[in-house]
Amino acid sequence: MINSENILNSAQLEKEIKNFVHDFCLEKHDIHTQQVIWNAPDGQAEKIKQLGIPKDGRPANEVVQKMMNEVYQYRGDSNHPRFFGFVPGPASSISWLGDIMTSAYNIHAGGSKLAPMVNCIEQEVLKWLCTQAGFGEKSGGVFVSGGSMANITALTAARDNKLTDETLHLGVAYISDQTHSSVAKGLRIIGIPNKRIRKIPTTPDFKINTEILEKTILDDKKAGLIPFVVIGTAGTTNTGSIDPFKAIAAICQKHNLWFHIDGAYGASVLLSPKYRHLLDGTELADSLSWDAHKWLFQTYGCAMVLVKDIQHLFHSFHVNPEYLKDVQGDREHINTWDIGMELTRPARGLKLWLTLQILGTDLIGSAIEHGFQLAYWAEDILKELPDWEIISPAQLAMINFRYAPKGLSNEQTDLLNEQISEKILESGYAAVFTTVLHGKTVLRICALHPETEKEDMEKTIHLLDTYGKELYKDMK
Ligand SMILES: Cc1ncc(COP(=O)(O)O)c(C=O)c1O
Repeated sequence: MINSENILNSAQLEKEIKNFVHDFCLEKHDIHTQQVIWNAPDGQAEKIKQLGIPKDGRPANEVVQKMMNEVYQYRGDSNHPRFFGFVPGPASSISWLGDIMTSAYNIHAGGSKLAPMVNCIEQEVLKWLCTQAGFGEKSGGVFVSGGSMANITALTAARDNKLTDETLHLGVAYISDQTHSSVAKGLRIIGIPNKRIRKIPTTPDFKINTEILEKTILDDKKAGLIPFVVIGTAGTTNTGSIDPFKAIAAICQKHNLWFHIDGAYGASVLLSPKYRHLLDGTELADSLSWDAHKWLFQTYGCAMVLVKDIQHLFHSFHVNPEYLKDVQGDREHINTWDIGMELTRPARGLKLWLTLQILGTDLIGSAIEHGFQLAYWAEDILKELPDWEIISPAQLAMINFRYAPKGLSNEQTDLLNEQISEKILESGYAAVFTTVLHGKTVLRICALHPETEKEDMEKTIHLLDTYGKELYKDMK
């Protein structure tokens, strides 16, 4: 209920929000000078828990202030130009604005009658993305919350296209030892247990070995099983490697398997005129996952699953309960609850459309190409430094390397690199984490931020080198 105190609070709240927006923009402006990781002091979580859930509410400005000081203050800032961990999320301020607008209008974007123009915009963006992937007239897709959801959505369509209730227990799926964990997770959820998920080894450059893939498919067929899907990756999470799509597609065609590409990280390369050829063969896939909250600069909760034939999604997800009859869709007016898992959903695609409208595709393309340049710079700097090994060269916006001075055992070198990562995280200057490749612990940089400069990369690598030398000295 609105009363004078509430109204006063609202005015105050508005002022607070304006200040927040102002600080946020300034912070974004000034982001190079900020630290990347903001660690919470001991006892901070306890402090939050003690706030409890009150029976009587409190003034909004007080609570907002609390959130600013006690919650948002502490974070690993994956928007930061020197956040090189995982796959970073360098969100554009335009996407952030789109997110605010999406929440402000709070449109139910599940049904086209409820949100006709929003639905139209989302479908237009999806159609355009399908064209970039080389998918034809019958293609389409749906916005989902992330790559994991995109993968499980596509895998469900693959299962329903190739298996029946009677044959589900025989279905076999093929991934590589570099496939993202969300794929096996998705497969288990849709009824394919680990014992029928084949992890095919990769070649030394971390791409699926297609000879072993085909041989395994043949062995499974001989054993009376039903191979039904191969998952290739456009930009693996560890190294950025791209699987040989044309060879996989030929195998899938020959043996009647669905071909899914997990492009959560790398599909954005399709928008780079200079590098899109790296993804040749994408057009041969049946489905493609694509995260916009990675290399398309969107705030979290924005990804796409695209399929070559939209009927496959419709077949798996169409529902027609009596309470939705009044808002039933058709071919022209697709209800997204008929082609995906969510019923009620926010208009996830609006912020991407806003970003594309404001920036245009040329600028987005160059922003993506900047990521490649950052990884090349990192590689050039590392090559000049003694005792650094490049384990996987710059691929897309990624590089894997390790400090390996002579005279250390493999275990000692692993430990040394773990400690180098810990040191740089502690410093707050940059976030560089480790992964394991061919049994070795290595450092990994994934650099997507359009505002990361050569100097950021130089300083980061020289800092890693300084820590490496110091830690090595202490080890001897
Ligand atoms: C190749 C790949 N697939 C899937 C995912 C999962 O995406 P999300 O975290 O958006 O669910 C990731 C995340 O890094 C990824 O790198």
